[in-house]
Amino acid sequence: MRSAGKVVAMMHERLREATQPGVSTGELDRVAREVIKENGAQPSFLNYEPIPGITPYPGVICTSVNEEIVHGIPGKRVIQDGDLVKLDVGAVVNGFHGDAAVTLIAGEGNETTRALVETTRRSLEIGIEAAQPGNRIGDIGAAIEDYVLPLGFELVREYTGHGIGRRLHEPPQVPNYRQGGRGIVLKPGMTIAIEPMVNIGGWDTRVLDDGWTVVTEDGELSAHFEHTIVITESGPEVLTSLG
Ligand code: MF3
Ligand code: CO
Repeated sequence: MRSAGKVVAMMHERLREATQPGVSTGELDRVAREVIKENGAQPSFLNYEPIPGITPYPGVICTSVNEEIVHGIPGKRVIQDGDLVKLDVGAVVNGFHGDAAVTLIAGEGNETTRALVETTRRSLEIGIEAAQPGNRIGDIGAAIEDYVLPLGFELVREYTGHGIGRRLHEPPQVPNYRQGGRGIVLKPGMTIAIEPMVNIGGWDTRVLDDGWTVVTEDGELSAHFEHTIVITESGPEVLTSLG
């Protein structure tokens, strides 16, 4: 898990440099593929088939722009100045997965996009901080909700974080909002991915005809940050960072 997390962090480092106005999302996918190869890792998302019969995921990473929330497919789309670019990245090392996402602004952006990005980035930190041993899964979403909603943004409800390990998606689901029950107790050794998706408008989502790209129903902007973490005796530890 640690090695996979490091590869994911390295991919993010290279992708951050590459994400500039004028680059296509397909080129970003090639950058990610290159870093995976250099490290002897395997792609995690490529050919992912959550339900048999669904089109296998065709990219190494997910590139979701502006009103696209998650699972955008890399291709010919060229990043424009001010675009909100979500890069969701996974890698497999020795059979274990790492999964992390960031939102970047190509160029400067405006005040609203910067506030959205900063709120989402901070909401992930707050969610991670709530992932203490002895707390429950539901405490993560409750902490995220208590931070995000008073700032006037909405949280996506149809997609959640997840357990992660030998598979990309394992139980339990990790919602980014408060639910009825608080869920299972967090114990040392558990590995989960926390991934708040924050919208400027409403929380409703829709999937495009490509079968993958999730967009906001109202076409408003969305931001997404994600880390894979391990619960330790002394608290949460982020696996998908170089630090
Ligand atoms: N980080 C994304 C998630 O947990 C990865 C999606 S993989 C894909 O949902 F293959 F479905 F794109
Ligand atoms: Co994930």
